[in-house]
Amino acid sequence: MNAIETRGLNLWYGDFQALRDVTLSVEQGAVTALIGPSGCGKTTLLRCCNRINERNPAVRTTGEIRILDKNIYDPDVSPLELRKAVGMVFQRPNPLPVSIYENVVFGLRLHAPPEARTRAALDLAVEKALTEAGLWEDVKDKLGETATSLQLEQRQKLCIARLLPLQPDILLMDEPCAALDVTATENIEQLIRGWQGAYTTLIVTHNMAQARRVSDRSVFMLSGELVELGSTQQVFDEPKDPRTADYVAGRYG
Ligand SMILES: Nc1ncnc2c1ncn2[C@@H]1O[C@H](COP(=O)(O)OP(=O)(O)OP(=O)(O)O)[C@@H](O)[C@H]1O
Ligand SMILES: [Mg+2]
Repeated sequence: MNAIETRGLNLWYGDFQALRDVTLSVEQGAVTALIGPSGCGKTTLLRCCNRINERNPAVRTTGEIRILDKNIYDPDVSPLELRKAVGMVFQRPNPLPVSIYENVVFGLRLHAPPEARTRAALDLAVEKALTEAGLWEDVKDKLGETATSLQLEQRQKLCIARLLPLQPDILLMDEPCAALDVTATENIEQLIRGWQGAYTTLIVTHNMAQARRVSDRSVFMLSGELVELGSTQQVFDEPKDPRTADYVAGRYG
């Protein structure tokens, strides 16, 4: 089963076409890396999956995106509901300037039914999410401290943790380690590997070694087009398209 399928997806920013006829399947439960040179449309494609591009009035899209077998542009799909199922983590860790605790429960306070918003239910959700994000031991004694006091790695883990209480199916990660040092990067990668099918993860990375380490499948894009999609081993070691071969060999980009 595919968690995400796009068919003939095109996207324009005004007159500029950033995605060209992208037809893509993202396997459920797998980690898929999106690779390609700067400006090829990785972030744009990622942002289509939670309809966040629509906030930009200059954006126009055609084609279809199905998430868990439902067209996300159907009139009965609410972008807010969609964004609960499809969480997103950005390059710069951007927790809210409130406490660690409030960051994690923020989504529940907005979206959960009253019984899931009792103090006991929220406490439980906080421990569960922070544990899953590898942050519980670090912060369990200072949940009331402001999130901006955390180190970068911890902040990025908090940004992951705050998505989890909403029980997302899909996590979109746009260069989640770009601002982190080597050790922090390793720790985040370990977290992603450890999810073991719990989430479908689509991760944009410029780091070829990272794509190899964390992903099951890789997608290579160039100038808004999807050039190649396959197992990470195949894309890196036996690329079918010469443009993929040149990119993974570091000949450009
Ligand atoms: N808001 C925007 N308005 C106009 N053009 C945009 C906008 N966002 C992106 N673009 C253009 O669309 C193309 C794809 O951009 P995108 O950010 O998706 O690329 P990317 O592959 O994520 O690049 P990078 O690796 O540098 O992050 C680029 O040519 C970019 O300049
Ligand atoms: Mg980008």
